[in-house]
Amino acid sequence: MSELSYDFSGRVALITGAASGVGLATARLLLEAGANVALLDLDQQQLEAAKAELGSEALLCAADVTQSASVAAAVAATESAYGRLDILVNSAGIAGASLPTLDVTDAEWERVLAINSTGTFYCMRAALRGMIDRGYGRIVNVASVAGKEGNPMAAAYSASKAAVIGMTKSVGKDVAGTGVLVNCITPAPIDTPMVRGLSKEHVEYMLSRVPMGRLASVEEAATLIAYLASDGMTFSTGAAFDLSGGRLTY
Ligand SMILES: NC(=O)c1ccc[n+]([C@@H]2O[C@H](COP(=O)([O-])OP(=O)(O)OC[C@H]3O[C@@H](n4cnc5c(N)ncnc54)[C@H](O)[C@@H]3O)[C@@H](O)[C@H]2O)c1
Repeated sequence: MSELSYDFSGRVALITGAASGVGLATARLLLEAGANVALLDLDQQQLEAAKAELGSEALLCAADVTQSASVAAAVAATESAYGRLDILVNSAGIAGASLPTLDVTDAEWERVLAINSTGTFYCMRAALRGMIDRGYGRIVNVASVAGKEGNPMAAAYSASKAAVIGMTKSVGKDVAGTGVLVNCITPAPIDTPMVRGLSKEHVEYMLSRVPMGRLASVEEAATLIAYLASDGMTFSTGAAFDLSGGRLTY
């Protein structure tokens, strides 16, 4: 349970990458705060496991964010089940392989960009139409410090997260004035299965750059996401919010 408390009663959220890590922790926080939540992730089995872990009612949307039809179906299912969609959290993502630039294959480059960048765009586009029509929305994209600073051995990942920051800034301006706010967070390493899957050298490099000298917790990430997704957040859009233990200087 986060130390901050929020009231999301009456709000409907769709969270991508919701079966694990940051997405799962955000689902837990929003459910505890009274939201109706739809969980989107790749397959039904991992979604059932996440729902059991959460111990709450949630709509399950098995979908691949790289497939725009599958994303549109998940948004439609959420709107049909709960009558609206107020909050979209784009947490689905992959780190990709830790590789020196010369070893990055075409396929690896395209896979990381497809999930992290294109997937985030497809989800925003699918959710935005209804949000604009209803005059209310909060979109929170999970970018990374890598998108601002670039991590070595992570050209595709760093580029994919720079794209998320760029599209957040662009879309936030596009829809400013509609009642929809679009922001992103730029976390340093967070203690999740994604980080546990990286090489020891990669994690040590990332931690050596964090002045506070530790990983963030998923609850810390969920707390910032919840703030950006809340009614209390009214005058920020197209912005990137730091969650880096002091690493980022801009
Ligand atoms: N963990 C970190 O250190 C860290 C730091 C900065 C940013 N991030 C970002 O945070 C987000 C969440 O990462 P996490 O650490 O919770 O990872 P995670 O691996 O625990 O969870 C990511 C989830 O995304 C899902 N996913 C992957 N590809 C998908 C697809 N094509 N369609 C639908 N779902 C898909 C996975 O199945 C998984 O459940 C990612 O975007 C990641 O890049 C993580």
